Amino acid sequence: MTAPSETPISLTRTRTPNTRPADASLSFGKVFTDHMFVMDYIEGKGWHDPRVVPYGPLTLDPATSVLHYGQAIFDGLKAFRGADGAIRLFRAQRHAERLNKSARALCIPEMDPGLVRRSFEAIVAADHAWVPSSPGTSLYIRPTVIATDVMLGVHPAHSYTYFVICSPVGAYYKEGVKPVRILATDTHVRAVQGGLGEAKTAANYAASLSAQQEAERAGYTQVLWLDGVERKWIDEVGTMNIMMRIGDEVITPPLAGTILDGVTRNSILQLLRDWGHKVSERKVSIDEVMQAGRDGTLREMWGTGTAAVVSPVGELGYKGETIRIGQGQTGALTQKLYDAITAIQYGRAPDPHGWTSVV
Ligand code: COI
Repeated sequence: MTAPSETPISLTRTRTPNTRPADASLSFGKVFTDHMFVMDYIEGKGWHDPRVVPYGPLTLDPATSVLHYGQAIFDGLKAFRGADGAIRLFRAQRHAERLNKSARALCIPEMDPGLVRRSFEAIVAADHAWVPSSPGTSLYIRPTVIATDVMLGVHPAHSYTYFVICSPVGAYYKEGVKPVRILATDTHVRAVQGGLGEAKTAANYAASLSAQQEAERAGYTQVLWLDGVERKWIDEVGTMNIMMRIGDEVITPPLAGTILDGVTRNSILQLLRDWGHKVSERKVSIDEVMQAGRDGTLREMWGTGTAAVVSPVGELGYKGETIRIGQGQTGALTQKLYDAITAIQYGRAPDPHGWTSVV
């Protein structure tokens, strides 16, 4: 049972609004807007009571199931303020559908995707003054569902809370839009087929932390995950999908159950195909990429993600060897992709695929 897409959303405004920080001070996900969207689920009644309320803490019993067994999903999308002053959501419908896909993987009751989309619009409308306008800034929107049963038995909960919070953001990486260093690991694994790799769930990120910490200590920005069985096929980076240009072929790992079906990944593949590039969604081994790095055919590598946008990769480490990619500089195609997708997001270029919607 699910609240229909046209269910009215109530609005209670905060009495103590905060001031948005200066655009130049924004990093990623450290300040939050004045309001949040909330909706509840109870078995028998379904999803109900969609509302925008003042931003504030959730009160949870210490035995709340999400705190123990991690039955939680989230997604992430952005709103952009264009030079024309309009605020555009990027691919809101696809994000709403992906949230439901993650819900199915975690036994969480699905929501009406139209209502999920309206939850994004309602929170952005309430906090429109928080959408920054400088180049490279946006409002990051974080929809999340948590299991709220108070119980210690391990089984899907009977009650849930859906909430949406927003954060004005700049670049995700401290490098900004400069190339990052990534480290492939075959000592830790994160996802296997049949597991949760393709769901956006807290567990995937918990599973990434110790390898991420080791990579950071070794001077890298992120981990490049390999498949969990043979430990040789490239999967994705902790916070973004990965793509590379070897010779004239752009390669990205296929959606085979262990990686996120990235919305930016999908958009970038579409742009590349629109431009007539040879694009392969195929298995690619770390050995093939390292060899291409050694013989100079690895021309560019970049990550794609809502937070990461299009992030150039300047160095790739694996088993004690580090290869530099494109002299450690941002590649021409990487830059062209970044420029093209951001031009659509900020409304500076036509949107032939209808990806943006004005709030
Ligand atoms: C996103 O790009 O939206 C993500 O969720 C990545 C990360 C910040 C967890």
